[in-house]
Amino acid sequence: MTLKGRDFLTLKDFSTEEILYLIDLAAWFKKKKKNGELHDRLKGKNVALIFEKTSTRTRCSFEVAAHDLGMGTTYLDPAGSQIGKKESIEDTARVLGRMFDGIEYRGYGQEIVESLAENADVPVWNGLTNEYHPTQILADMLTMKEYFGELKGRTLTYMGDARYNMGNSLMIGCAKLGLNFRIAAPGKYFPDPALVAECEAWAEESGGSICLSEDAEAMVADADAVYTDVWVSMGEPDEVWEERIRDLTPYRVTMDRMKRTAKGSIFLHCLPAFHDLKTKIGAEKGKQFSLTEMEVTDEVFQKYSASVFDEAENRMHTIKAVMAATLADWEIG
Ligand code: CP
Ligand code: NVA
Repeated sequence: MTLKGRDFLTLKDFSTEEILYLIDLAAWFKKKKKNGELHDRLKGKNVALIFEKTSTRTRCSFEVAAHDLGMGTTYLDPAGSQIGKKESIEDTARVLGRMFDGIEYRGYGQEIVESLAENADVPVWNGLTNEYHPTQILADMLTMKEYFGELKGRTLTYMGDARYNMGNSLMIGCAKLGLNFRIAAPGKYFPDPALVAECEAWAEESGGSICLSEDAEAMVADADAVYTDVWVSMGEPDEVWEERIRDLTPYRVTMDRMKRTAKGSIFLHCLPAFHDLKTKIGAEKGKQFSLTEMEVTDEVFQKYSASVFDEAENRMHTIKAVMAATLADWEIG
């Protein structure tokens, strides 16, 4: 298996075997890290990390993973570069491609990361766009693998806004890896039918399935994992909050719903999560809309925190696998 020289823009571009290889490679790096075995074979390489939207996990994962692999990093923050303001994405790609061995991009439209990839002769990695968040899915799948062993045949239920990066990418990942993917959301929050059709074809090949429903109780029944995300994503206008809260409050992950899931089930969240009011936005919106929690209750979040924080840690190991595999070939020992 070699992924050397490839971009990592969406899981649509990767086969089942390639995705499983990245998950296995991540598990191998995780073991090495836990054993204190150095794996800095990429010494002398440098990567650029472009963040047009803010981040905790993704940024830290790219930085720590790059350093573990022996590489240098340059972080370009949402305000600190010329990108999009004084310099086109094409020219930026041509400049960075000459200085760096790989480029990470987090920001807005998928077309931006695609344009970066087209114009830079080095691997480009998607660290989240409006449409996709592929590195997150690798971490989610590694986490499910750690809890359940086999991924194929497991059921993952996603509750909330399924038209955006997380809903789209989870559906692609599950379809390719043979999971049963369920969405519980109001119909207007279902993913684009064209993407659903593409995923249905992959699911048919992998033995998975896709089910979209407005019936939250039916969708969580016997699920192995329940997943949710914030109701309002980065970059969306403030005006959407009111409608989102009204539409998605009936799809909150609650203890009653977790009780309907399979024995040994887990809760997953890409984070950050509004499970209490201990954040500036949480406190502000909580007061404005008389809420104490949003997409998940604090009770569920705390009870299932082990899986959620395993998932957060796995961002680093999986991002390491993506960089490593696209920059060099590895023999998993
Ligand atoms: N899950 C995730 O992408 O987190 P950050 O926004 O902190 O990177
Ligand atoms: N849907 C969220 C995911 C954050 C990791 C967002 O785009 O803000």
